[in-house]
Amino acid sequence: MTIETDRLRDRVAAELGRARDRTVLLTEAVDDGDLIRQHSPLMSPLVWDLAHVGNQEELWLVRDVGGREPVRRDIDELYDAFKHPRRDRPQLPLLGPAEARRYVATVRDKALDVLTRSRLDGAPLVDQGFAFGMIVQHEQQHDETMLATHQLRRGAPVLDAPAPPASSGPVTGEALIPAGPFTMGTSTEPWALDNERPAHQVVVPAFRIDRAPVTNGAYAEFIDDGGYDDPRWWSASGWAYRQAAGIVAPSHWERDGDAWAYTKFGRTQRIVPDEPVVHVSFYEAEAFAAWAGKRLPTEAEWEKAARYDPATGRSRRYPWGDEEPTAAQANLGQRHLRPAPVGAYPSGVSPFGVHQLIGDVWEWTSTDFAAYPGFVAFPYREYSEVFFGPEYKVLRGGSFGTDRSACRGTFRNWDYPIRRQIFSGFRCARDA
Ligand code: AVJ
Ligand code: FE
Repeated sequence: MTIETDRLRDRVAAELGRARDRTVLLTEAVDDGDLIRQHSPLMSPLVWDLAHVGNQEELWLVRDVGGREPVRRDIDELYDAFKHPRRDRPQLPLLGPAEARRYVATVRDKALDVLTRSRLDGAPLVDQGFAFGMIVQHEQQHDETMLATHQLRRGAPVLDAPAPPASSGPVTGEALIPAGPFTMGTSTEPWALDNERPAHQVVVPAFRIDRAPVTNGAYAEFIDDGGYDDPRWWSASGWAYRQAAGIVAPSHWERDGDAWAYTKFGRTQRIVPDEPVVHVSFYEAEAFAAWAGKRLPTEAEWEKAARYDPATGRSRRYPWGDEEPTAAQANLGQRHLRPAPVGAYPSGVSPFGVHQLIGDVWEWTSTDFAAYPGFVAFPYREYSEVFFGPEYKVLRGGSFGTDRSACRGTFRNWDYPIRRQIFSGFRCARDA
């Protein structure tokens, strides 16, 4: 074994450990009743996410990479996300909290043993630790999903975190991104998922993009201007949704006299005007943009604004360069349980002066989730391929709830345009 392999193995073990610490924190914050209960029909019971994380780890690391005997073959069907929709999961004969905890611990012991014996090269599944990286990202993605479940839970607050950094100054206006080709996606990022691949050239006409995400203050102006009652701003399907759902503000907002308050993880306070708005659907984002005389960015525009370096012509891994995010560059990792005010991350800025592309809030784009040219499903069709199509919109950049391992300049998330239980916001763009 080379020193590099040992170093990679240590890094994989540390990343698996970091994901598990987060899972433990989110599942130990509540009692057994709250683990088993369904807090919203949109979400699984937390105890389902817990055992599902273990089951995916068992399938890929213990059985597939390790070639070991199953730990619990009998529960595969219960934790297959395609077999039972979220709303039905509380009725299933799920593992109880204690059993689920024992199961994930047993699987983890075996996965770590497999890790010590893997060469981490050769076959694509293990090359550069890919399968381990995929499982790290899977657990971290479910940790973000569990955080969204916590946000929907009623009752006394159980999660707490320090406030995000203050703004170091206002960020206003737009950046002009000149016309021209750039490299979208990646063929070299070792843990990039199949939908981020391969790297390909995309020609993007000149456009302008907001230097900051849309804030609560700006969004409240849209509401106060009657934005939710004016079909001019809404697409036909957006208006149909707005009418049927009866929405009048982002989810978790309520009137507080003339102002707005919102509830985050059980605590209610006035909205903070310079914080990015969160918990809006694609349709609301689209309507706000129309009201503002703008539009949402396409996915390619978002990625060019985030990655393209005009000095070298190359695409960076992150807006600030190729180095992994630190606490100085982006609000990620559930370190703060809210978006940071605009201007809080001057060292995370892109070459074109665009702020807070990574972290804070997932940003809706106008693009349907689709395969890049040359896409190959890997290692299974159900991660991405079965979701390609016009019913899902792409979100970019990650939120305060996203771990750095599951977020980068090429990372693609997707959801239905009506969804807003996720940590979703947006920024606007327009033709140059
Ligand atoms: C990429 C966030 C849309 O949660 O449905 C978790 C991630 N895939 N388990 C999802 C995922 C399988 C996925 N998203
Ligand atoms: Fe999953």
